[in-house]
Amino acid sequence: MQNETPLIFELSREGRRGYDAPDSSVQAVGPGLSPELRRKSPPRLPEVSENTVVRHYTNLSVRNHHIDRDFYPLGSCTMKYNPRVNEQIASLPGFASLHPLQPAITAQGALEVMFRLGEALKEVTGLDAVTLQPAAGAQGELTALLMFRAYLTGQGGPRRKIIIPDSAHGTNPASIRVAGYEVVELPSGGDGLLDVEALKRILDEEVAALMLTNPNTLGLFETRIEEIISLVHGIGGLVYMDGANLNAMLGICRPGEMGFDACHINLHKTFSTPHGGGGPGSGPVLVKKHLEPFLPSPVVCRHGERFELDWDRPDSIGHVHTFFGNFGVHVRALAYILSMGQEGMREISETAIVNANYLRAKLSTEFELPFGSPCMHEVVLSGDRQKARGVRTADMAKRLLDYGMHPPTVYFPLIVHEALMIEPTESESKETLDEFIEVMRQINKDSLENPDLLKTAPHTTPVRRLDEAAAARMLDIRYYKD
Ligand SMILES: Cc1ncc(COP(=O)(O)O)c(C=O)c1O
Repeated sequence: MQNETPLIFELSREGRRGYDAPDSSVQAVGPGLSPELRRKSPPRLPEVSENTVVRHYTNLSVRNHHIDRDFYPLGSCTMKYNPRVNEQIASLPGFASLHPLQPAITAQGALEVMFRLGEALKEVTGLDAVTLQPAAGAQGELTALLMFRAYLTGQGGPRRKIIIPDSAHGTNPASIRVAGYEVVELPSGGDGLLDVEALKRILDEEVAALMLTNPNTLGLFETRIEEIISLVHGIGGLVYMDGANLNAMLGICRPGEMGFDACHINLHKTFSTPHGGGGPGSGPVLVKKHLEPFLPSPVVCRHGERFELDWDRPDSIGHVHTFFGNFGVHVRALAYILSMGQEGMREISETAIVNANYLRAKLSTEFELPFGSPCMHEVVLSGDRQKARGVRTADMAKRLLDYGMHPPTVYFPLIVHEALMIEPTESESKETLDEFIEVMRQINKDSLENPDLLKTAPHTTPVRRLDEAAAARMLDIRYYKD
């Protein structure tokens, strides 16, 4: 691999071709595109051979870290292996070549996929109704809060405030503001869980809802869920579960049975869509019966053998995504669920939990463990001990790159000093986990014996340590050098 990969435009040589299309044997019909719509000059594209294109993009792909290269324990992101077979199924021409404006009668198979996925997600969450439209977890949150607003308005008024714990993911307060509510932040208790006594003190009739992540972003399961939910319901409010961490719950417990009114699921974390790289995601929202009338339209429904789109929904909050959401992600999710089956789903979560607790037990000798209780699918450690030696969590994260591993999430959740949030996922072997443990132990040793090695890392990556402020503010993302 070249260390300095040139731009594809620098590889361009006039007249060089990658592919020649045969002359068309089809006669032109009619005048075609009107002259004012036609471009005046050919587009400026690189002229390169197929060989060059393939090598160029292969080289670029291995410069970046991805799950196919090595371990990627990015906490909160669930970067797990997604079976290739689901990719193949999503690319079948019957799915990939559908047009979203096709009449429903000609797209029965696609509607059936969406219908069956919705039914499966209802089963997984124990909730009653579903929309697959939202394109991400954050959009799912907003969709649900707009439904809460519509429901509460019908009950006498939308109310003013929504409560979140201080461990919440940043998308939660953002969704609350966009939905027109005030954010009320609740400090977590000393055990990292929601402080129920503090919650009681701030609950009043202006509270529209509580948003709670379970397991929370500290990797801990909220144990007093039923009590919390009945307190919020007691003042006429609603309770939302941020279900981004569902990878810890599959087949074990269900938000609907805990009493939540709604939750979203990140299909791109839990159900087999490669996460990261900004590709399409999907954040379906599941709700209890009383919120069903407000679901975005259309809703896919079944009449006998036929699948239809129900647009006639007078109380719907409207459309939240073009067409029906990111359909390719729906196909992957259904393929994954069907291939795993009920038993397999439970095994996913159990293995994810065991893997995270294995790392927790092995690493808590060298690293600070801010909360003592067993964790769910991710573990949050603190780099405070190393910081006292002058080595920051960021330095350790950079050093991990030298070992070919992606660093964990760092400095989140915000309430843990020098946080290292590690999510191994169920798809990593014991050998990989042991290798990671060894590397982390070596990094800890170096923080005592050779701290400069960490402070100047990474040393073996194509790009060395960047000035982070300049890298974010002085982007060089040109296609052309001139
Ligand atoms: C706990 C939690 N909530 C919400 C989200 C938002 O999901 P998305 O990135 O799909 O918008 C995430 C994403 O990382 C998350 O970890």
